Amino acid sequence: MIPSILPTYNRAPLEFVSGAGAWLTEADGRRFLDLGAGIAVNALGHAHPALVEALTAQAQALWHVSNLYGIVQQQALADRLVAATFADTVFFTNSGTEACELAVKMARRHFHDFGQPDRVGIIAFEGSFHGRSSAGIAASGSEKMTKGFGPLLPGFTQLPFCDIDAVRAAITDTTAAILVEPVQGEGGIRPVPDADLRALRALCDDHGLLLILDEVQCGMGRTGRLFAHEWAGIAPDIMMVAKGIGGGFPLGAVLATEAAASAMTAGTHGSTYGGNPLGCAVGCAVMDIVSDPDFLADVNRKAGLLRQKLEGLAAAHPDVFEEVRGVGLMLGLKCRAANADVVAAGHAEQVLTVPAADNVIRLLPPLTITEDEIAEAVDRLDRAAARVTAA
Ligand SMILES: Cc1ncc(COP(=O)(O)O)c(C=O)c1O
Repeated sequence: MIPSILPTYNRAPLEFVSGAGAWLTEADGRRFLDLGAGIAVNALGHAHPALVEALTAQAQALWHVSNLYGIVQQQALADRLVAATFADTVFFTNSGTEACELAVKMARRHFHDFGQPDRVGIIAFEGSFHGRSSAGIAASGSEKMTKGFGPLLPGFTQLPFCDIDAVRAAITDTTAAILVEPVQGEGGIRPVPDADLRALRALCDDHGLLLILDEVQCGMGRTGRLFAHEWAGIAPDIMMVAKGIGGGFPLGAVLATEAAASAMTAGTHGSTYGGNPLGCAVGCAVMDIVSDPDFLADVNRKAGLLRQKLEGLAAAHPDVFEEVRGVGLMLGLKCRAANADVVAAGHAEQVLTVPAADNVIRLLPPLTITEDEIAEAVDRLDRAAARVTAA
């Protein structure tokens, strides 16, 4: 008999009833150190006082009015995002997948309205993940995500990761945009080198294409800059954001330049819930903290510490781990043992990690994790690795 929850997830046999900071607690009181942060969502950890305050204060005042009316909190968050980034304008969604939908629509509509309606092609990359909607799976193109869901939305091409020559060769007069995650998350924590991001920007400029960055997982301070592309010194035309921006409240956004977005006029797109007062009140509280240069400097300092300890861990367990990779607090341990076994051994040691493709375990701790917690986390991973070796 089919379970009452559609069985699309492989769930671990764990259930949490409360959280505080980097810790999650089960009903029996067992505490787990959370290096997954709900897959890079709880950027400020669990039950951060500023977010609890923002959410509960807003809950007392107003939950939902729809986008038929002005929304003060939405305006405030859009103004903060525009002030802090390349963007001139923002559309709020409830998830990263919806941000992907709009990014693709915006790119196509841009060329449609500017006299190049044949420009519909989107160049994406193998190993990418942009969500599970029709556009998202067509962009990713992997068999795992697309099998049985055809006909797929046309117009997407996948090229080998970071193969700039292949991108150059694939651009035609029907290409609209290049879509790329600056750091692939689900694909196994694979950063695009800065030089390659710059090369993609240059190709877009040379050919009049739009550069769409998917910063759903790597954005909002995760890499130690507010957005990951800042490390490369480039800016996109369109950017997808979600996960950390809501700190656990479902919230996403598409940020864009005026030039890229100007075809999106009244009636071209919408969302019932996107940009609702609750989500945007929380989003403002997240932005206030994460966009502070001192906060980001602290993320970088802790990221250096975690990385150094993980290099030691990998060296101590060469039978379990192959390498450490990633940027900031978006780190991956490529495993020699099966990554699922390492994640499960972590559960036995009460430390949570997230599996990814390419036999990687992801470490995406709350950006607020402390130095002591980093040390504790690596001790637990050390014991987990010993379990894997002993098994
Ligand atoms: C890079 C990237 N893009 C898009 C998505 C889809 O976001 P959501 O699950 O919020 O729809 C994800 C989710 O993991 C992601 O990591």
